[in-house]
Amino acid sequence: MTKRVYNFYPGPATLPLPVLERAKEELLDYKGTGVSVMEISHRSKEYDQLHHEAMSLVSELMGLKSDRKVLWLQGGASTQFFMVPANLGLPGKAPQYVNTGAWSKKAIKEAGFYGDVEVIASSEDENFSYIPQGVEFSEDASYAHITGNNTIYGTEWNYFPKVPDEVPLVNDISSNIMDKWEDFNRYAVMYAGAQKNLGPAGVTLVIVREDLLDRVPDNVPTLQRWSTHAKKDSLFNTCPCWAIYICKLSLDYLKEMGGVKAMEKHNRDKANLLYDVIDSSGGFYKGHARKDSRSLMNVTFNLPAPELESKCVAEGLEHELLGLKGHRSVGGMRASIYNAMTLEGVKELAEFLKDFQARNQ
Ligand SMILES: Cc1ncc(COP(=O)(O)O)c(C=O)c1O
Repeated sequence: MTKRVYNFYPGPATLPLPVLERAKEELLDYKGTGVSVMEISHRSKEYDQLHHEAMSLVSELMGLKSDRKVLWLQGGASTQFFMVPANLGLPGKAPQYVNTGAWSKKAIKEAGFYGDVEVIASSEDENFSYIPQGVEFSEDASYAHITGNNTIYGTEWNYFPKVPDEVPLVNDISSNIMDKWEDFNRYAVMYAGAQKNLGPAGVTLVIVREDLLDRVPDNVPTLQRWSTHAKKDSLFNTCPCWAIYICKLSLDYLKEMGGVKAMEKHNRDKANLLYDVIDSSGGFYKGHARKDSRSLMNVTFNLPAPELESKCVAEGLEHELLGLKGHRSVGGMRASIYNAMTLEGVKELAEFLKDFQARNQ
């Protein structure tokens, strides 16, 4: 039998087992074509169908209005760090960003290549352990930008900031796409590298409000314009067919599971299990994120000493709990419990952590 362990890596990350099994079944012969999705033309009718179905599933699952364009792009979420200012910037108006961690900083740096950037709030003073509360963007911003979930620090926006109607709000949802239900139409633009909560590495999902596609200045190169991809339904050039196919299978799976609201419940159940272990450990496990900013996707915590942290990560591996080492900027441990992580996996981890504490306190 194939060995599968519980995978808590932050990304690329675990995928639903039924998705992998389906991909395996269809690997050599996709729907009677006698070839795999990796081998067929992105212009073939078989591929075209799954490509469009994947886009429709995104709209359906997120409850998107008909004026939202769903794009499958390449270059990772990091490419959106410069595509956002290239497509949305306005002369003489600075964009406004909230700095909630390493990925926000990178987004701010790239926007800086296009002109001044205003950072209106930051949690850098406390090693990004919280989401600044009461954030308000002002009407003189060209656009506003937040990072929905901070993968490294384990913080997530749990409220919607104040944004004037005329200011498009951009959200980097790379590590929390569809983790919980909200009105996704409040965001003018969303983008996510697929490799955490949606599918494999190699494709980036971008969702743009249609009226914003015309904003792009004439001097922005063809492939860097969202409008180029929107006009051709992301088939302007060869798209990452295989990665989009796996995303489509994951989206099918999410729909079968009951959609985003059902997923939110599943995610809250999982996250509560781990946060309960932390909160009832009498300080042995110390959560990095402030309680009001805790992420449903990345649970970050420290142990009393670095040696204990290494020991816990190593013993976790022996218990088939993979990828628990924290990012170097926080240290300690991080359990990434994306949509595809099962409740059983988190229960195993919770039991292991309680046992580890009992043996090492
Ligand atoms: C929140 C967030 N934004 C952006 C990125 C960068 O994504 P990519 O590697 O696809 O460029 C990451 C990667 O971990 C991330 O977690």
